Amino acid sequence: MFTTKEAIEKRRSIRKFKTEPIPDEYITELLNAARLAPSGCNAQPWRFKIVKEQETKSKLAYAAYDQSFIAEAPVIIVCCADIQGYLNGTVSASQDLGKIGAIEDRIVKILHSRTEQMKSIGIHEIGPRIAANVAIAIEHIVLRALDFGLGSCWIRLVDEQKVKEIFGWDDNIYVVALLPIGYPAEFPEERKRLKLKDILIE
Ligand SMILES: Cc1cc2nc3c(=O)[nH]c(=O)nc-3n(C[C@H](O)[C@H](O)[C@H](O)COP(=O)(O)O)c2cc1C
Repeated sequence: MFTTKEAIEKRRSIRKFKTEPIPDEYITELLNAARLAPSGCNAQPWRFKIVKEQETKSKLAYAAYDQSFIAEAPVIIVCCADIQGYLNGTVSASQDLGKIGAIEDRIVKILHSRTEQMKSIGIHEIGPRIAANVAIAIEHIVLRALDFGLGSCWIRLVDEQKVKEIFGWDDNIYVVALLPIGYPAEFPEERKRLKLKDILIE
């Protein structure tokens, strides 16, 4: 087991995987880590599709502009946002937060009117707005995977429409990223990062 600091420092994007399968109980643990992520209004809009089947993995790699290494992973997690689920869940979840006194009533009202406004914009515009919630859940998966010796790689360079066609999903599902995951067959050096002084806005 590592500390959170060690996990953050140790993680790398992995693009070469062993063929060894991932036990189902590990996948359950990863999804549980995702489930526990924070989200705006506690709306929890994340939804995940677990893909192990080779033909579907190949189709996903193709949808990701032929990033062929994706299909070599034993599992690909397709990470999505459920737009209707978000719109339905956000009001009741913020009211729950209001009831327990976690947020003030006036904030509940603002959240309610923001959600109403969101309903009036096109469904295509909502996905990117709520993707941050899913991103946090994805990173929970990425870090928890290290506990099982698993590596992964965020894939956002993907044709969302093609992914939806593979599964027959409608516009209610917004595809945030693919996450190929497996036992690493490479151990990359630390990748270049900006210095602390370069990430501060004066
Ligand atoms: C939002 C996001 C999208 C990314 N999309 C891709 C991708 O489509 N293909 C890929 O090979 N890597 C992708 N990456 C991985 C980055 O290239 C990688 O995080 C970066 O080069 C730093 O390397 P490290 O993760 O090993 O520290 C993505 C990472 C993030 C966070």
